[in-house]
Order: sequence, then C-alpha cells, then structure tokens
Amino acid sequence: MNVQEMQQEILRLKKERDMCILAHSYQAREIVEIADIVGDSYALSVKAKSVPQENVLMCGVRFMAETVKILSPQKRVWLSNAIAGCPMAEQMDKAMIAQVKEMYPDYTVMAYVNTTAELKTIADVCVTSSSAVKIAKAIDSDKILFIPDCNLGAFTAKACPDKTFKLLQGGCPVHAAVPPKAVAEAKALHPEALVLVHPECVPGVTEQADYVGSTAGIMEFAKQSDAREFIIGTEISIAEHLQYECPDKMFYPLTKHLICPNMKATTLVDVYRCLRGEFGEEILLDDETIAQARRCIDRMIELGG
Ligand code: 13P
Ligand code: SF4
Repeated sequence: MNVQEMQQEILRLKKERDMCILAHSYQAREIVEIADIVGDSYALSVKAKSVPQENVLMCGVRFMAETVKILSPQKRVWLSNAIAGCPMAEQMDKAMIAQVKEMYPDYTVMAYVNTTAELKTIADVCVTSSSAVKIAKAIDSDKILFIPDCNLGAFTAKACPDKTFKLLQGGCPVHAAVPPKAVAEAKALHPEALVLVHPECVPGVTEQADYVGSTAGIMEFAKQSDAREFIIGTEISIAEHLQYECPDKMFYPLTKHLICPNMKATTLVDVYRCLRGEFGEEILLDDETIAQARRCIDRMIELGG
C-alpha cells in the first residue's frame, strides 16, 4: 500500500469506527492530511469536547490524549503510539508540588497543560502556550506558582508585571536547548527574515524574537504577515507545514536540532493499525482523577474563551 492508499483506507476506517482523529500541529504532513481537527494544545482540548464521534484517536503526546479523556469521559480515547509522551509532563509529580504548595500556601497553582492528569488534580488552573498570558491576567489572584515550564512561566510573568510569580526548574528539553546565539546565527544567514518562536524557548531567545506564540499562533502570524521570510523557533514540522501552505514565502528552522522525538513517534502506519484495533493505547483514568483534573481545565476554558 502506498501513502495515498493508506490514507484512503484510514478515511474509510475512521467512518466505519466512528472515530475522530485529532492531530497536534507538530504531526507529520501525511497525518495532518487525514485528521478531522488539527491545532495547538488549546484548540485540540476545546474542540475535542464537542466532536460528534464516540471515539477519539489522538496523534500527539500522552497528556493531550489525557486532556481529551478528562473533558469527554464518556468517549473512548486512544493515543496513537503509546511511547509518545512529553518529557516535560513527567518532570514533576503530585507529591513534589504538594510540598511546594505548603511553602507558598497563598499562591494559585497554574499548570501548563503539558502535565500528567495526576498533577492536574492539584492545580488551580491550567494554561496552554496560547492562553497563559490571557489567563494569568484574568485570574483573580496576584500570586502565581507556575509549573512546570520556567520559560513559559517567565514569559507569562513578564507580560503580567503587577503579579508575583514563583517558577520551578522545569521545561521542554527540545525548545530549552536552543541557545540564544542561534538567533544571531540564523539572522546572519537570513537577514530579511522575521523570527517567530515558541515561549518554551529560554528568555535569551524569546527576547530577540519578532513574535512569540503557540504553534497555532506562529502559523497564523506567518500567514497574515506581509514579510516574505521567517525563521521558525519551534518544532521543525511547523516550518515544513508553513512551507506547504505558503509556497510564496520562505521558512527556515531556527536550528536543525528542534526535533521532538515524541511528536515524531507516531507514523501513518500507526494510525492505520490503531483503526484496525492492532495498535495504540486506550486512555483509562479513574473517575476521581477525571473529576479533580477537570476543574483546572474547565477554569482554563472559562477564563481563556
Ligand atoms: P502548543 O501549546 O503550541 O500546542 O505547544 C505544545 C507543545 O508541546 C509545544 O512544545
Ligand atoms: Fe513536550 Fe517539548 Fe515535545 Fe512539546 S516539544 S511535546 S513540550 S518535549
């Protein structure tokens, strides 16, 4: 079977199995093409709530599939490749944050959506990269303990100078590894290009950017902009998707090291095999975890909508 034949078979099978395929924007082109919904973490979590299908297949990483399950517990939700986890989501656990909370009892715990379902059970509010600033400004609290990403936390804190933030040493191993000097190096090669970066990059990188935003935000900015060239400081797939969608513009990855092995774990064959019931992992969470984790996600949707 070639790629097109497999895509056709996937489209047929997903109807037969009443399956909605969600794909994060970092997924490969051939997966994005067969998905019902493609977007950043925020869009996927909000839109997944109202899809008509009984079953959902997440092409992304584990915390994204868990978020769908938390929001739609009556649906059966699968992660297309069980090894696809986000290392940042595993960096802090509930016991550790419970201890930190004791040190800062009057702080609101703001958890990046890149956290496990278990950790979300003790967060007060959840945020994504596209909603963090809006929610931090809107929330009725001026002391925020931001977990786990200190870079998104620092970016959010800078946008909310009237609030006090406590940050912990967590972050994305892919984005946080981009050194600030990479911006000057990329600009030397492409002096006309605008620099668009994800807020998971270190402050030394985000401070030099022309735009900082989520994966969807970066794509939207690049499409709307009159500029012709862009240096893309997020997972390398975004430069690739933009190049397809805007063939008249030029997109250059900020560095060739911006590759997330977990987001790359899912292949079209995995999706095909999931639909045949041969692969993937069904997300199973107990009712209590779902009920407790849901509060912070609902609050995100309420404040970010
Ligand atoms: P978005 O919030 O932009 O979807 O990013 C998720 C992510 O994992 C970024 O590395
Ligand atoms: Fe997690 Fe970073 Fe990969 Fe996003 S890019 S899924 S934050 S490891």
